[in-house]
Amino acid sequence: MIARWEPVRRLRGSLRPPPDKSISHRAALLAAMHAEPVRVHNYLDAADTNATLRALRAVGVLVEQRPDELLIRGPGLRSAVAPAEPIDVGNAGTLMRLLPGWLAANEGQRFTLDGDASIRQRPVDRIAEPLRLMGAGVQASRRRYPPFTITGARLRAIDYALPVASAQVKSCVLIAALGAEGATVVTEPLPSRDHTERMLSRAGADVSVAGPRICVSTVDELGLEEISVPGDASSAAFLIAAGLLVAGSRIVIEEVGVNRTRTGFLRILRRMGAIIEGDLEPELAARGPDTTAAAPPDADEPIAELDIANGSLVGTEVSPEEVPLAIDELPLVALVGCFADGETVVRGAGELRIKESDRIGAVVAGLRGLGGDVEEIDDGFRVQGTGGLRGGRLDSRGDHRLAMLGAVAGLASDEGVEVVGMEAAGVSYPAFADDLRALTS
Ligand code: S3P
Repeated sequence: MIARWEPVRRLRGSLRPPPDKSISHRAALLAAMHAEPVRVHNYLDAADTNATLRALRAVGVLVEQRPDELLIRGPGLRSAVAPAEPIDVGNAGTLMRLLPGWLAANEGQRFTLDGDASIRQRPVDRIAEPLRLMGAGVQASRRRYPPFTITGARLRAIDYALPVASAQVKSCVLIAALGAEGATVVTEPLPSRDHTERMLSRAGADVSVAGPRICVSTVDELGLEEISVPGDASSAAFLIAAGLLVAGSRIVIEEVGVNRTRTGFLRILRRMGAIIEGDLEPELAARGPDTTAAAPPDADEPIAELDIANGSLVGTEVSPEEVPLAIDELPLVALVGCFADGETVVRGAGELRIKESDRIGAVVAGLRGLGGDVEEIDDGFRVQGTGGLRGGRLDSRGDHRLAMLGAVAGLASDEGVEVVGMEAAGVSYPAFADDLRALTS
């Protein structure tokens, strides 16, 4: 589907972003691992998270859609049943990397996972390695791609240093740790989103965090009755970028998750001079002095209201340490960089090449096609800000975040943008086009 986004005069209004995709996947999965029914409030209704519900049903989970909540009844930690057909993960990388953490603990069961054309290009070796070390069998196509098969086993705890800062890989191991004998330790090279740690803590698991080390011990049963999903900071990021780039805009984003491991983009934007009012650190006041002593992580997700206004921006340099905290928003950093004064550089973001598309190649080609002065580097990009973008045509390459980036670019451009493959937005934000249009009226 081709959607045309014309330049607009200004954006006004308040919006609640859709429920968080990352947290929705985790909520459904942990609920399924609990033998008692769990109520999930504000679960994201989008292609990716619906794929999770389908996948869970395929291994014996009952999912009841109630008027304002989901009721999930799972078989418990070690009683998932392998279906005869492959489990279809659709386009969902998070599902593909987290679900095996549970399946691996189901002794003797063989589960095959497959997905769409994009998923078949995304590696699973980074979860295969720790799961094998824990005792599970993993066989992948071309050694590292879906379709792949997990053979469940009696798992043993491991002490594992993640080779990359990936919340998906970390979460897979932490979830497997629940069903593994002993205490598993995962060490992160850099902090990444910590929703799994929080939710495990909330579910009564024995989890502790000491600096980069996360420790999870085996449990017999989780204790979880209900989970509420906050607004998605990554979906809100598109609305925020639109508010910052369209001249004369002033918008309010309500009830958005502001977990510190997800707000790297907002800190980068503030450094660029963006006007973003709101408390990005609501947990700081509640926390004592920083400590590296092992302690359970916060169980809840912080939320805030953000007030965004258009204004002038300057280029910035994004360091490799900032990358995991803004990973899904880095394409937007490139877009915002086009409108800023001076150079914007992102480095240490090679992970972007294995997202729903090659997000370095796709963003650089996409923004160049709209008149942007953008250069590809191995592990990132370099943008020369010219204060605006001409407009033109952008191919989403089936990637939801590129489709939404194209729409925002269109509103702020001189001549408008035609987005090829706008329907991809349905992966994480089905109401995106309606929400964005609501801000223009
Ligand atoms: C996610 C983690 C990130 C992110 C993805 C969602 C998650 O991937 O890009 O959209 O929910 O854990 P990596 O952890 O592999 O970088």
